[in-house]
Amino acid sequence: MQNDIQQILISNERILARCEELAKELDRDYEGKKPLMVCVLKGSVLFFSDLVKRMKIRQDFDFMSVSSYGSNTYSSGRVKLIKDLNSSIEGRHVIIVEDIVDTGHTLSYLKMMLNERKPASLKVCTLLDKKCRRTVELEAEYVGFDIDDYFVVGYGLDYDEEYRNLPFVGILKPEVYKK
Ligand code: PRP
Repeated sequence: MQNDIQQILISNERILARCEELAKELDRDYEGKKPLMVCVLKGSVLFFSDLVKRMKIRQDFDFMSVSSYGSNTYSSGRVKLIKDLNSSIEGRHVIIVEDIVDTGHTLSYLKMMLNERKPASLKVCTLLDKKCRRTVELEAEYVGFDIDDYFVVGYGLDYDEEYRNLPFVGILKPEVYKK
């Protein structure tokens, strides 16, 4: 599996150091607010887990699952809700935790849907931000790393459901997805 990786873009050490910083920022910004941390399956599972365990404030978890890519490498712009939240978010401070913002379609759909449920606040924390690929206006309030337009896998991110368990974010060799 590691043979399919062209280059390690962000090492596990750098990811964890950034999680520590983001956790501190969130602790400070959400002190006394008991935020609802929303993990968007499946890509953000690893980031979510490393982030929340570094936070010290009281919080709740919930999970949702949406799909936009299918099995190809570029976002189609279509978003499908696969699993909704279990809890009501009315009056809650909600933080959506994502692995990557690419075109912005997924998050703009999610934010629109969740805002209709009247949360007290709704913000986005993403590990990776590919601003150069944005086709809809969408800004994440908390960003781990800004990256260029590489096809990245690992640390939760997949290609055709593979590579999610790599501990780092790596650039996939083009011959793998051009097969
Ligand atoms: C990925 C990622 C974001 C979305 C970003 O999810 O986790 O949700 O794509 O792309 P966008 O900004 O162009 O909408 P994906 O649909 O691949 O599902 P996964 O998390 O299960 O891998």
